[in-house]
Amino acid sequence: MKRVFSGIKPTGHLTLGNYLGAMRRWSAVDQHEADALFCVVDLHALTVDHDPGRVRRLSRQAATLLLATGLDPQLCTVFVQSHVDEHARLSYLLECVATDGEMRRMIQYKEKAAAERARGGSVRLSLLTYPVLMAADILAYGTDEVPVGDDQTQHVELTRDVAVRFNQRYGRTFVVPRTTHPEVAARVMNLQDPTSKMGKSDDVGPGVVYLLDEPEAVRKKIMRAVTDSGSEVVHDREARPGVSNLLEILAACEGGNPNDLAGVYETYGSLKKDTAEAVVELLRPVQQRHKELCADPAYVEGVLREGAEKAREMARPRVDAAYRAIGLLPAG
Ligand code: TYM
Repeated sequence: MKRVFSGIKPTGHLTLGNYLGAMRRWSAVDQHEADALFCVVDLHALTVDHDPGRVRRLSRQAATLLLATGLDPQLCTVFVQSHVDEHARLSYLLECVATDGEMRRMIQYKEKAAAERARGGSVRLSLLTYPVLMAADILAYGTDEVPVGDDQTQHVELTRDVAVRFNQRYGRTFVVPRTTHPEVAARVMNLQDPTSKMGKSDDVGPGVVYLLDEPEAVRKKIMRAVTDSGSEVVHDREARPGVSNLLEILAACEGGNPNDLAGVYETYGSLKKDTAEAVVELLRPVQQRHKELCADPAYVEGVLREGAEKAREMARPRVDAAYRAIGLLPAG
């Protein structure tokens, strides 16, 4: 059975982009078809200015939401990154294989470092080495497939390069993983600025639909989404980013194709209305289940404890093998 690994970073409230771009497939497909692990990657949340209490709360919330989307601990492994030491152990070894030039070429590093400097802050070293920790997350488990949104492609490419290099230098140790993306909505855009990604750490709240937004808030945000000049409903990401984003969201909710849907609508208003209702219906069961799970925190904690135990057992042999392969003396 193939092995699937993916993760979510607790740096903000989870969004419709996270759901359509990645999480939905994890519960609908991956957990049924693969030996799958899903991880709240809390160490990654420490790479930018952070509040310790907030990271802890968001980690718990992300884990609860993962279960609320339908991940079933009988079918897959759900855990928190920092509970499994193997990630950090392997990350150091991979730092000895990756280069600083590779890290500096990463688009997300460039963007986040520039934003941090613009705020007058300093850039944490861990922001630079972030993709190596991500590579360790993936490689520790012998992962075949990494289901993610569009924005993570470059990081998975780097992971592949590092795996191949390690295997060539020190002997075959890692599986070289591939990325999988959803057919539609691999990059959901901000409703107020459809040329940039809908991100959970965005300040522009009105352009971001959060998974836990009340139905009225979802409707308001989608009805107020920025559309393009012109009034024809066409799917053209370059020329009509606003309307195309709505078409993709609706297509993803309904399981259709954005080009076909474009022919169905004559006005932006009716497209927005249907998109809003489709998103409200999509989120309703997730929100309901989230509420139930919040009433049972011991259940969520138990899932995470067992998940970490299983993950540790899966990761340890390969990480130990990497320690030996690279030349470290076994502890005996
Ligand atoms: P993160 O936490 O930013 O996002 C989690 C997942 O959601 C996807 N995503 C989107 N998809 C479509 N449209 C959007 N607007 C959108 N925003 C986010 C992301 O592509 C991702 O799949 N570096 C990763 C976390 C990570 C990871 C890993 C992922 C750490 N280690 C190992 C896979 C495997 C990240 O920051 O995702």
